[in-house]
Amino acid sequence: MRLGPFVLPSRLFVAPMAGVTDRPFRQLCRRLGAGYAVSEMVTSRRDLWASLKTSRRTDHTGEPGPIAVQIAGTDAAMMAEAAAYNIDRGAQIIDINMGCPAKKVCNVFAGSALMRDERLALAIIDAVVGASAARGVPVTLKMRTGWSADQRNAVALARQAESAGIAMVTVHGRTREQGFKGEAEYATVAEVKAAVRIPVVANGDIDSPRKAREVLERTGADALMIGRAAQGRPWIFRDIARYLATGKEVAAPTTREVRGWLTEHLHDHYALYGEASGVRSARKHIGWAVRALPGGEAFRQAMNTIERCEEQVRAVGAWFDALAEHHERLPLPRPAGAANDDDLVMSA
Ligand SMILES: Cc1cc2nc3c(=O)[nH]c(=O)nc-3n(C[C@H](O)[C@H](O)[C@H](O)COP(=O)(O)O)c2cc1C
Repeated sequence: MRLGPFVLPSRLFVAPMAGVTDRPFRQLCRRLGAGYAVSEMVTSRRDLWASLKTSRRTDHTGEPGPIAVQIAGTDAAMMAEAAAYNIDRGAQIIDINMGCPAKKVCNVFAGSALMRDERLALAIIDAVVGASAARGVPVTLKMRTGWSADQRNAVALARQAESAGIAMVTVHGRTREQGFKGEAEYATVAEVKAAVRIPVVANGDIDSPRKAREVLERTGADALMIGRAAQGRPWIFRDIARYLATGKEVAAPTTREVRGWLTEHLHDHYALYGEASGVRSARKHIGWAVRALPGGEAFRQAMNTIERCEEQVRAVGAWFDALAEHHERLPLPRPAGAANDDDLVMSA
């Protein structure tokens, strides 16, 4: 799949998730089959760029390209300036956030709230495309299906965005009003795909290889974006890729493989955040990794009392070693509708 001058190695993307998809997590997902990863959103507020949080988000050291940075804001000139700022710091693709329902974002009329004001949305798109095109950088757009059930304007906005020079659009199959409630619908995503010639990415509730195939079939989308299902399960990209290629369900990874990936992730995480902050923010990744496993909940709680990185990584290693004694493969609950064991392809 092509995006501007880039050829992406796979059409499975990891969704931007603030507080989750930092550089270490993006790199892990990429190693495990994600073909593309967008950074957590960076504010267009210049006064916050020097903050520790934003400077971490704009540091792409060692990240494989293309480096895609998502920006969020409400003012066209500030958004253009944010695009230029991030391009100067290594961004090779700029993504505009019109999909995030977070209060912090929507109260100031950014994120998915922009879908309610098409004129402002278009002014922002024009300004960001102008600033980025001058530097040879493509701009993409991430949005929802609309503001509310009776204001589902994703098709109209996607058409206008395409005319304004947007290179790819991602649609999360929910309205802003829905937040994360209900189920994602894919009919609007299919309408967007039929309405534009630029690549369209389908997003929302893709949590298994079967669901991935179903969403591809129902939308005709060029690519899929996966968010929450990758939390604690970053190998989902590899599983989906294999299933799409072979039509066969993939066995769970071995417990030792997962131990290795998590350990590697924790070391990268500590390197970015440092000891005090890293040990705390790593807890959520550990929690997601163990939550569905036998004894996982008790271990997750025990993790909260550990305050040193070295001790945390040691405890994680020991816990997975003990699990591996009884389970060669990760004992995950079977997803609804999964095939028989006979259909499993062993991932040696
Ligand atoms: C914790 C969290 C943080 C998110 N942060 C962002 C963000 O910074 N920018 C954005 O466009 N979407 C953000 N999203 C939305 C996701 O990118 C994605 O559109 C949504 O989770 C639906 O996909 P999923 O069902 O695969 O999770 C966030 C979602 C979650 C759960």
